[in-house]
Amino acid sequence: MARLVNRELAEVNMDYVNLQESSVRMHTNGRNLALPDPRRRLFTLVGVGFGLLCIVQAALNVSLRLTPSAVRRNDTDQQRFLTGKYIKQGWVYFHTSFYFISSTKKSWQESRKFCQEQSADLVIINTEEEQDFTRQFHRLTWIGVHNVSRTGQWTWVDGTPLTKSYWGPGEPNGYEGRNENCVEIRFFDRQNSWNDIPCEDQNFWICEKEAAL
Ligand code: BGC
Ligand code: CA
Repeated sequence: MARLVNRELAEVNMDYVNLQESSVRMHTNGRNLALPDPRRRLFTLVGVGFGLLCIVQAALNVSLRLTPSAVRRNDTDQQRFLTGKYIKQGWVYFHTSFYFISSTKKSWQESRKFCQEQSADLVIINTEEEQDFTRQFHRLTWIGVHNVSRTGQWTWVDGTPLTKSYWGPGEPNGYEGRNENCVEIRFFDRQNSWNDIPCEDQNFWICEKEAAL
């Protein structure tokens, strides 16, 4: 029994001595890197983990650099960028929106396309002040209301149905049986200045972009 205990103790001591020796060997001469298995696995895991992190970071760097600058900007930067662009291009600021008053003529659809390409749309009139603003240019100008499904339901370009309108006398009339499905400012001397007219006609137009200042 005593011998058995001693033998067990001796084995434990030997293991301890061997373990100590191997660590000492590793620290002292640095050449013998033989580590016990669990430690080697831990070192490998840490190494692989670090490597993976580096790869993910590199991929992120590349993808961010490849992203178009407009997408990378946050909303505030985007707004500032657009504001600068509108001012340089001669858009005018009134109340809470920027407006572009064209000096060439296009169909209603083409005019709208122009506005959309500038991150804007044809003007939507929400107030009396805005209605007066749109007629001060004394030009036939498209506004952002149309008879979408030709059912007589006049709708703004943002999809909201027309509630408050400023039709001129006798309008909308589908003049002489024609499809007058788009709206222009025509009778600019009076507040009720709107006229329905064929969408293919060539007119000036007004774009609007709400400003988030
Ligand atoms: C009429 C409008 C019509 C336009 C067509 C005007 O004289 O008042 O209702 O849309 O002619 O050109
Ligand atoms: Ca008409």
